Amino acid sequence: MTILQPDLLRLVYFSRNRISRPDCEMIWEIDQILETSQVNNGRAGVTGALIFNDGVFGQVLEGPKDAVEETFERIQLDERHHDVTLLDITPIDERSFADWSMGFVGSHSLRATYEVQTKVTDFDISRLDGDEIFKMLLLLTLKNEVTAKAA
Ligand SMILES: Cc1cc2nc3c(=O)[nH]c(=O)nc-3n(C[C@H](O)[C@H](O)[C@H](O)COP(=O)(O)O)c2cc1C
Repeated sequence: MTILQPDLLRLVYFSRNRISRPDCEMIWEIDQILETSQVNNGRAGVTGALIFNDGVFGQVLEGPKDAVEETFERIQLDERHHDVTLLDITPIDERSFADWSMGFVGSHSLRATYEVQTKVTDFDISRLDGDEIFKMLLLLTLKNEVTAKAA
């Protein structure tokens, strides 16, 4: 039986990377973001997934309204990215990423799974709408292509 939680929200945004580092060091930077996210989100009851491809982040956050809004406010102030663009904020009945305090999808998983299924190769996250980013992250997490680490 699903226990409905009051005031549950899903928020989707994309942003542009501001960290100027070679790809190998980006992995380290993303690991730092994930480690902080997993601790903070676990504490706040926020779940979701993050994707990074070609300089663009896409993220889904879900959880109680106050916790999601507080987390997103903090994320927007982070100087590691800019152009933070809110795409969607919707009440939901249940979580889609219940097992992920913050799952991560890198370019490799994206190409190996999503691009094969959709035949889309010149992939730009910032051209997608909120629902498309949500569905893409859901597909990739269901395919177990998501790792907690950025490796
Ligand atoms: C693309 C991106 C996604 C992030 N996602 C989260 C997140 O889901 N949860 C979180 O707490 N911090 C996230 N952060 C980090 C926050 O911006 C901020 O640095 C952090 O929450 C500060 O936590 P602290 O006060 O515990 O150091 C993200 C940062 C970036 C650049």
